[in-house]
Amino acid sequence: MNKIAVYPGSFDPITNGHLDIILRTSNIFDKVIVAVLENPDKKSHLFTAEERVNLIKKVTSNIPNIEVESFEGLLVNYVKKKNSSVIIRGLRAISDFEYEFQMTLMNRNLNPDIETFFMMTKTDYSYLSSSVIKQVAHFGGGIKGLVPDAIIDDIYNKIKESN
Ligand code: COA
Repeated sequence: MNKIAVYPGSFDPITNGHLDIILRTSNIFDKVIVAVLENPDKKSHLFTAEERVNLIKKVTSNIPNIEVESFEGLLVNYVKKKNSSVIIRGLRAISDFEYEFQMTLMNRNLNPDIETFFMMTKTDYSYLSSSVIKQVAHFGGGIKGLVPDAIIDDIYNKIKESN
């Protein structure tokens, strides 16, 4: 049986922390679907969902078993629609736990057939978040080593455009 995992998030933009989780997950599952949330709550998105999908595609094109797309609505419904029963989440620190715990229990309540798997983020990236990257880049700080090289210019250009 093909084991398909869904790795959901905002990815605004994808960081090396996310990429590390994607790479490690792709070694375990037959297929990994990176699912970009079109999130109405996070109004301050820098990139549109389509742009975020394209940035992820750009840095994962060398991984054969990765698919990238955006989704709307409940995650469990999307996971089911993709014939998967596995959600992947990255844990960076203890502070992530409470939020992840709540989300996992809610998802289990919505669909008990879907399991959430947690991957510990590589320690080098445990302090990273997309917001921190955007803030540093906004003020002209260096983001090399924190996001994939191939998207560094996209981030600076988009920030310039949105100012
Ligand atoms: N490396 C670096 N940063 C990481 C990371 C990692 N491994 N893992 C998470 N992060 C950061 C992200 O960059 C993001 O930073 P930001 O807040 O500065 O943008 C933050 O951690 C959390 O982001 P993310 O993992 O993208 O989660 P999210 O909270 O934006 O989205 C969903 C989570 C998409 C899974 C959730 O909102 C969802 O399922 N929504 C659909 C609606 C639904 O089904 N709701 C019911 C379930 S409660």
